[in-house]
Amino acid sequence: MDDLSRLNLLGSSEKFLGVCSQIKKMASVDVAVLIAGETGTGKEVAARALHYLGKRRDQPFIPVNCGALPETLIESELFGHERGAFTDAKTTAPGLVCEANGGTLFLDEVDTLSPKAQASMLRFLQDHSYRRVGSGIERKADVRVIVASNANLEQLVEAKAFRRDLLYRLNVLQLRLPALRERGDDAIELAQTFLTRLSHQYRLPKKTLHPSAIEFISQYDWPGNIRELENVMHREFLMCEGQEIIFNGETSAAVENTMNSFKTAKQQAIADFEQRYLRQALEKSAGNLSEAARIAGQDRSAFGKLVRKHKILGMEQSNL
Ligand SMILES: Nc1ncnc2c1ncn2[C@@H]1O[C@H](COP(=O)(O)OP(=O)(O)OP(=O)(O)O)[C@@H](O)[C@H]1O
Ligand SMILES: [Mg+2]
Repeated sequence: MDDLSRLNLLGSSEKFLGVCSQIKKMASVDVAVLIAGETGTGKEVAARALHYLGKRRDQPFIPVNCGALPETLIESELFGHERGAFTDAKTTAPGLVCEANGGTLFLDEVDTLSPKAQASMLRFLQDHSYRRVGSGIERKADVRVIVASNANLEQLVEAKAFRRDLLYRLNVLQLRLPALRERGDDAIELAQTFLTRLSHQYRLPKKTLHPSAIEFISQYDWPGNIRELENVMHREFLMCEGQEIIFNGETSAAVENTMNSFKTAKQQAIADFEQRYLRQALEKSAGNLSEAARIAGQDRSAFGKLVRKHKILGMEQSNL
């Protein structure tokens, strides 16, 4: 097994092999990396690979999901705090930057960092120094920072929801992960690998893909990318009768919705459409809201409301 498959980087399409060679190159240089890609394309897998293929491999790899932490806590989580720095700070905490010393800090959903945390992160990237919340003492840590986002950071900068100087700092190297639908036969290769893994995991006989399933896998859009494919294979492996997995659009395009009522499925479809549409309009208008509203033939305030509803431009933007 080679290094890349041990790190769970599977696939052999030209696009994906290009990504793998970029990962190897980027692993050998010790600077920040910005990983971009749709949900489920393997951003965290890629971040781990950058760490474990690089010279920091024997030091910690610390992943943080910025989006999962409340805005008020993110700074103290990252940089630590002194006892009594705020109401709940009963003890001193060194923070994740300190924990990652010598290794790599992976900031997932970096677009959700509060303005204050963005400022502290910028400073840390500039000279490796930081302060714990509630402390005047300047500390240093030697940490490689890797960040990921599935938002368009350039657009967030235009909308003043993300600092331009921070984006420049983070964007020295950019790794773009392709969507599964852009990766040719990788979806089929991955589906087969998942089935082999599942038969080992459950100690059950191997199952194979019926031609109709292969056809479906290569035609389907996979909006949830590899994660969605993994889930579908898992369910089909457990639920299908016999040794051969047979499914098609009818049984599976709506796989995620099979347990939902018609009403929720319809709402979901509308929400998906709205999001895709808003993104496209904003992309066409280079992030300019009024222009995007004009393209969409909607008045600006109704359009702004939709953008807010889907959190397309991030929460900080106040002029919507
Ligand atoms: N190249 C790959 N080969 C095999 N499995 C992969 C590959 N890339 C990712 N995976 C698997 O797909 C799933 C999603 O990967 P990961 O969590 O890295 O995606 P992500 O881009 O971080 O998603 P999100 O945007 O939702 O955070 C994981 O179970 C991971 O193991
Ligand atoms: Mg992730």
